[in-house]
Amino acid sequence: MTRLVVIGAQWGDEGKGKIVDFLARKAEVVVRYQGGNNAGHTVEAGGNTYKLHLIPSGILYPDTLCIVGNGTVIDPKVILQEIDDLNKRGINTSNLRISDRSHTIMPYHVKIDEIEEDRKGEANIGTTRRGIGPCYMDKMERIGIRVCDLLEPGIFREKLTTNLEMKNAVLEKIYGQQPMDMEKIYTEYCEYAKRLKPYVADTTVLLHNAVKADKKILFEGAQGTLLDNDLGTYPFVTSSHPVSGGVCIGAGIGPTHISHVTGVVKAYITRVGKGPFPTELLDDIGSLIREKGNEYGTTTGRPRRCGWLDATVLKYAARINGLGSIAVTKLDVLGGLKKLKICIGYEHQGRIIEEFPASLAVLEKCKPIYEEMDGWEEDISGVKEYRLLPANAKRYLERIEEVSGAEISMVSVGPARDQTIVVKERL
Ligand code: IMP
Repeated sequence: MTRLVVIGAQWGDEGKGKIVDFLARKAEVVVRYQGGNNAGHTVEAGGNTYKLHLIPSGILYPDTLCIVGNGTVIDPKVILQEIDDLNKRGINTSNLRISDRSHTIMPYHVKIDEIEEDRKGEANIGTTRRGIGPCYMDKMERIGIRVCDLLEPGIFREKLTTNLEMKNAVLEKIYGQQPMDMEKIYTEYCEYAKRLKPYVADTTVLLHNAVKADKKILFEGAQGTLLDNDLGTYPFVTSSHPVSGGVCIGAGIGPTHISHVTGVVKAYITRVGKGPFPTELLDDIGSLIREKGNEYGTTTGRPRRCGWLDATVLKYAARINGLGSIAVTKLDVLGGLKKLKICIGYEHQGRIIEEFPASLAVLEKCKPIYEEMDGWEEDISGVKEYRLLPANAKRYLERIEEVSGAEISMVSVGPARDQTIVVKERL
């Protein structure tokens, strides 16, 4: 397998950062293909904790080429801050390349994201308020400012002027806010452009060359399947395509060049933000999982909603991503629970639903049908081999394989690199 896609199979926060970091030790190229600094990957390496938002986790390996693809949205201020922070901690970022076709998050995107979330009140989406949605909206409206535009002062000025005229009208007339200052933004962003320039490239060419040279390439998904704009729990989704299909568009690579897709599955399930969540645990077990699993957002610090593993979600994720294997994370967090539950379908108005529904009105009323399994008492955070896991933990994993139809390639039993059980290497 030389070109591996790793995606989140739930609502994001599955622990992709840790899995990608682990796999990245063998990768020659690591690619982000969608999203922006709404994502947050926590990686623990060499006793240090790194919180990455935009830069691929592969950056911690000095020889790995790290690509931020055309399908991403870049907040220049944030990515430069991330570069500075890494450099300060002795991490070399000279192998980072940002696509000239990626779109730039501008201050009005962040402002509009915030205002819209506040305006919607209780009916809000619970976005990360990083300007992600408004930036992708401009991209689709074909008025966005791409990184290649940002680097050309004349073009940047022209596009910013046109955009700001409209955005300021919206800010003033619809939201009753102060307009934004054109010259201030222009000057500030021209400075960012100068600093970003050495990192900017036509990343599709770099990728093409890597494919031709048969290099090991890892595509790193951000967010998760159910946050996909097309296939997720719309409208409680992000504005990009975290599913495996998003790789082709967001990185500029043909589907024939993808060798394998691994889905990262947390041993339970969490979500941040709003939207129906059939297996949500609003009791002590939910709180226990949140505390033990440190289920607080990397980007926003928000407490994550926690629930039992949902096989309906897993089956759906396996189907729409073409999952060939699964990496199960945070299995250690479930240790000590006497009984574990897996949701194997829903009951909706007296009917059994086996496939994940499109309608949120249906999903909201779905009652999970649970299968109960015995838990394990042992602390498994030091287990290094699959065969040494407690019998009940293995049974739980085997059930995950059965319901998803994909084999388990890795099991993570703690945040550190060496707390990873490799069942079958995929890169
Ligand atoms: P946005 O991506 O900031 O527009 O937020 C849209 C939805 O996606 C909200 O429910 C967010 O909480 C969720 N979301 C965005 N990024 C992440 C992530 O990295 N992990 C989990 N949820 C996310």
